[in-house]
Amino acid sequence: MPPVPAVSVSAPAAEYLAPVFAHYPLEVASAQGVWLTNSRGERVLDLYGGHAVAALGYAHPAWTAALARQAQHCQFQSNAVAMAVRVRAAERLIHFARLPDARVFLVNSGAEANENALKIALRTTARRHVVAIEGGFHGRTAAAGAVTWGAQAKWYGFPRAPFNVSFLPRGDARGIRAKVTRRTAAVIVEPVQGLAGAVDLGADFLAALRRRCDEVGALLVFDEVQCGMGRTGQPFAANLHGVVPDLLTTAKALGNGFPCAALLMSSQLSAQLPVESLGTTFGGGPMACAAIEAVLDAIEAEKLLERVRRLGALIRASCRVGPVCAIQGAGLLVGLRTTRPAKEVQAQLLECGILTGTSSDPQVLRLLPPFVLEDEHVELLRDALRELPA
Ligand SMILES: Cc1ncc(COP(=O)(O)O)c(C=O)c1O
Repeated sequence: MPPVPAVSVSAPAAEYLAPVFAHYPLEVASAQGVWLTNSRGERVLDLYGGHAVAALGYAHPAWTAALARQAQHCQFQSNAVAMAVRVRAAERLIHFARLPDARVFLVNSGAEANENALKIALRTTARRHVVAIEGGFHGRTAAAGAVTWGAQAKWYGFPRAPFNVSFLPRGDARGIRAKVTRRTAAVIVEPVQGLAGAVDLGADFLAALRRRCDEVGALLVFDEVQCGMGRTGQPFAANLHGVVPDLLTTAKALGNGFPCAALLMSSQLSAQLPVESLGTTFGGGPMACAAIEAVLDAIEAEKLLERVRRLGALIRASCRVGPVCAIQGAGLLVGLRTTRPAKEVQAQLLECGILTGTSSDPQVLRLLPPFVLEDEHVELLRDALRELPA
């Protein structure tokens, strides 16, 4: 593959956009499948998928057609007005999650889904304490940020958290008893931590959390914003590990780029929610629902869960080369542990025309590729890594 020189963003972004994001040296002009085309017409293999969003890749024909069709039919009505597409999306999602007893509340973003999950847990238990896991990321709003590891020191920005929070070290099954008590409303956990560098917390730890929540009457919340929607090769990590949470949040791949998120909850919990106790203007809008339906259709029709499992296994079997000394995560949520700073390896891969992501672990490069990845793309990654100094 010809090397792609790093390009700088042509638009003077700083003149118009708040300078809160670090930018990769890449400006995307268009995209197709797993390929981005930069503003100089050069192709870049996207193994990052816009932070795990572009599950179907780019310009997916059925997804694009579904959005165009819905835009022509009716682009928006609020939740005050019934729409068949909303019911279909919720029904499909429940069926996909293999949680036949669940109910869905549709919102706009991962943080909003988590915010509502925590609100429900605090209200229905009438408790004020939440347990989260070290390394976890749950979003940047008041409640979601309060349970995000490291947020208080780095970026939280609110004068105080809206409830008491304790953090439990990852995998510390023995510590669960002391932290999760009869004061605890909820435990929130990413079953496979994303930003932390694709860290699978494993079935035993999650099952231990489930047991303790049952003992003390706390609710278990799985944040599957990043690891859900087929990314692990199963519908959700809950399915992967055989642990059923009380509340499950998902977003990112859910809409393949049309902003949307969902909160799934047990029917027993949803029965406790009075009318108007939750709300949203855009959540569950028909465009979002058409996107969700198209994503679920494509995952099923194209057998993408199988593909995720197969390609995830291929990456694990073939990409421990060059600066990669170990591989962690699940399915296509992959952490490549590097012998050198991951940022350095990321920059070198981008020079070879491959976009990857980093993580909060400076030695872990994160891959979140579209599910439509093929063997040849993994081979391109392996060959590029092989050429890099260990
Ligand atoms: C696990 C997890 N939870 C929550 C969020 C927040 O989602 P959003 O950015 O859609 O608010 C993210 C975003 O990266 C995430 O990875």
